[in-house]
Amino acid sequence: MSSITCFAPGRVEILGNHTDYNEGFVLSASLPYGIRVTGSKRDDETIRLSTHMGGELLQYEVSAAAPFMRSGKWYDYPLGVVAALREAGINVGGFDAEFVADLPSGAGLSSSAAMEVSTIMLLEKLLHIALPGIELAKLCRRAENEFVGMQCGILDQVSSLFGKQDHAIFLDCRDNKVQTVSFPHDVCLLLIQTGVPHALVGGEYNERRQHCFAAAKSLGVPFLRDATSAMLSASSLPDLEYRRAAHIIGENERVLQTLDLIARGDVSAVGKLMNESHQSSRLNFENSTPALDLLVEIAISTPGVCGARMTGGGFGGAIVVLVERDAAAVAGDDISAEYERRSGNHARVLNCDLADGALMINGYLS
Ligand code: GLA
Repeated sequence: MSSITCFAPGRVEILGNHTDYNEGFVLSASLPYGIRVTGSKRDDETIRLSTHMGGELLQYEVSAAAPFMRSGKWYDYPLGVVAALREAGINVGGFDAEFVADLPSGAGLSSSAAMEVSTIMLLEKLLHIALPGIELAKLCRRAENEFVGMQCGILDQVSSLFGKQDHAIFLDCRDNKVQTVSFPHDVCLLLIQTGVPHALVGGEYNERRQHCFAAAKSLGVPFLRDATSAMLSASSLPDLEYRRAAHIIGENERVLQTLDLIARGDVSAVGKLMNESHQSSRLNFENSTPALDLLVEIAISTPGVCGARMTGGGFGGAIVVLVERDAAAVAGDDISAEYERRSGNHARVLNCDLADGALMINGYLS
């Protein structure tokens, strides 16, 4: 039986926090870390999924013909993709898939999207269907929204699919237009995990989304993408809605400014916008944590660092640091040592070269 292997990366959100479901702008990139899946078609209707976690091999089997039930476990992500394909009229049938991750989960780097995207890449090849990248992203988002139950936007799935080496991804979430943007060579990004896990399924994320929709309604616009700072200042929104809206409007403005700054190579101004973004998360959107705040505070006073902010949904996870390339190794060590000294937690530093998006890495199909 022929087998193929696909890889889907995690992502880093460089700027544009919680803007995706508000039809706004995001700047992100694919990471050099992600999930590799090897799989093949079966002659029967069995779907057999396996993964390695904490040195253990976990397996799950289900009939492709049966209705799937959400379990809250790792296999919800691939099953959600199968369910989304089914709803799109694509009959999947039985297959084996084994997932291997070199991306930490619960770190805000989108291991869930990497699992969805690796699954859809595999199935696309096994079933000989060819769908445009944005359709693959939409199906994976549907898996997460409808099966997993997390009301995320499309950022993570697009960022896993559309990455390009040494480039950032600029996404307009209104028309889902994706552009890659050459990233300055004299700087690089570090991802630093707090060592305190996060869980995004449910809870705060979906609540923030509701706050944003309520704020848009009060401002009389379809989405916060359509609101401006001037409209907000002239409004009489209640404090909570005002701050949520201020975050999204500010993030959209910062993403657009960053595109110009990157084109001019003004990395220190980009860093300042990242710092502003973090303060807005902390005060306006309230999706930061004391551990993320401490890491950012330490990072921005470290030599060579242009700016730092929390990345992703929030409520834990990791920060992203923009740092001069020559200073990056020493800065990473210094930040993690100081963080450990002050918090007692171990920070993990990942060097985050901007990488290519999902791809088939080998395979032979009969
Ligand atoms: C999570 C979600 C994304 C996006 C970010 C915040 O990663 O999955 O859709 O909303 O949070 O920008």
